[in-house]
Amino acid sequence: MLTPAPPPSASSASSASAPPRLALRGDLLDFVGAPAWGETETPALRFRPDHWLLIEDGRIVGAQAESPDAGWAREDQRGRLVLPGFIDAHVHAPQIDMIASYGAALLDWLQAYTFPAELRHGHAGEALAGADRFVDALLAHGTTAAVVMPTVHKVSADALLAAAHARGMRLVAGKVLMDRHAPPGLCDDVVQAERDCRELIARWHGRDRLAYAVTVRFAPTSTPEQLAMAAALCAEDPTLYLHTHLAENRDELRWVAELFPQARSYLDVYARAGLLHRRSVFAHGIWLDAEDHAALAAHGAVVAHSPSSNLFLGSGLFDWRALEQGGVAVAMASDVGGGTSLSMQRTLADAYKVQALRGQRLTAWVALHAATRGAAQALGLAHEIGSFDAGCCADLCVWDWARGAVAERRDALATALHERVFAWMMLADERNLVSARVAGVERFRRGAQGS
Ligand code: GUN
Ligand code: ZN
Repeated sequence: MLTPAPPPSASSASSASAPPRLALRGDLLDFVGAPAWGETETPALRFRPDHWLLIEDGRIVGAQAESPDAGWAREDQRGRLVLPGFIDAHVHAPQIDMIASYGAALLDWLQAYTFPAELRHGHAGEALAGADRFVDALLAHGTTAAVVMPTVHKVSADALLAAAHARGMRLVAGKVLMDRHAPPGLCDDVVQAERDCRELIARWHGRDRLAYAVTVRFAPTSTPEQLAMAAALCAEDPTLYLHTHLAENRDELRWVAELFPQARSYLDVYARAGLLHRRSVFAHGIWLDAEDHAALAAHGAVVAHSPSSNLFLGSGLFDWRALEQGGVAVAMASDVGGGTSLSMQRTLADAYKVQALRGQRLTAWVALHAATRGAAQALGLAHEIGSFDAGCCADLCVWDWARGAVAERRDALATALHERVFAWMMLADERNLVSARVAGVERFRRGAQGS
């Protein structure tokens, strides 16, 4: 095995390197297509047990069963699971400060816990330390790419994008836009917000592996003028993402209907403003109808499903099957701090339970696909992340198949592959993570100092 990497920290973040040719041995699992709903055996799965994944200059170049020649540095992780790094399609960086806060549904929870926590990130020191803490936490949970909301403060977006940049990560983020119905310290105005967005876009959009998302928090906290400004930015550059919340909670829905009486639905508020497009990422999308589904599908937008958050805040049971049948792309998301863990396994386990409450069965394949290749595809990034296709960045994680006596027993008794992976998905979490690589560079290793 290779020498453990130094602990992840801001100072080591940009200086780490990887051998130019690295072969990693393990049980390689990824997807070559989209698995069909309900199928526990699928041609979309690519499972290559005990293979060597070949990485050259940070990119995947192939995989083989035979040992590579002496021109390759080797890392032998046989008996362990190797997956593409998880993609978290919607998460809030500052909210690790108030994750797991008691006793409120969405709108009260925002006022009681979220806004006070986000206010702190207006200070540069807090924003910088918080950004490093957050991206290192993502990596320590096996998430190597994410669509992230920082706060309304420019400094928090800058700090977040800089922290991801220092680690070579694929991150999509932008300053949050809010110009009403929030504390004064969290409100911007249209003119200043546009100026800040333009500066941040010029600095970060398309820089290495970063992309800018025009980030409307949600319809109630933006005036129609601010929504129009956000849409104008998107229209100027169709490679920009739009990131917002949509139809999460029924009180929120009633509020949106009062604020925007001319709109047919919550989604229609965004559609009328010009914010529904192929780079739109909508968190939640629980309370939608068939017309909304059709509009989302027609525009190629993605819904970021956050089951842990939906359960914790009591928001509702996501109708994944209806979206899937309507042709809407669904990607997995933790939505921390509404969600109670950055662990994608815990998120997937919650997704399974939400579907069970709806009388549906979520296979491990549909779930894992939505956290890897499916998410990448929905974000227009499948050429870069989400799979072990040749040419993709070597963003990957090594996982223990089982940790602890119960999981080990369950793993030992599994016979079919779906049974084994499903049990892993339900029982594993970040404690199963052995190491995480970003573009081939090890950015997390269990047991390294500080992890
Ligand atoms: N809607 C508006 N803001 C938020 C937030 O921070 N978290 C969640 N889950 N929903 C929101
Ligand atoms: Zn959210």
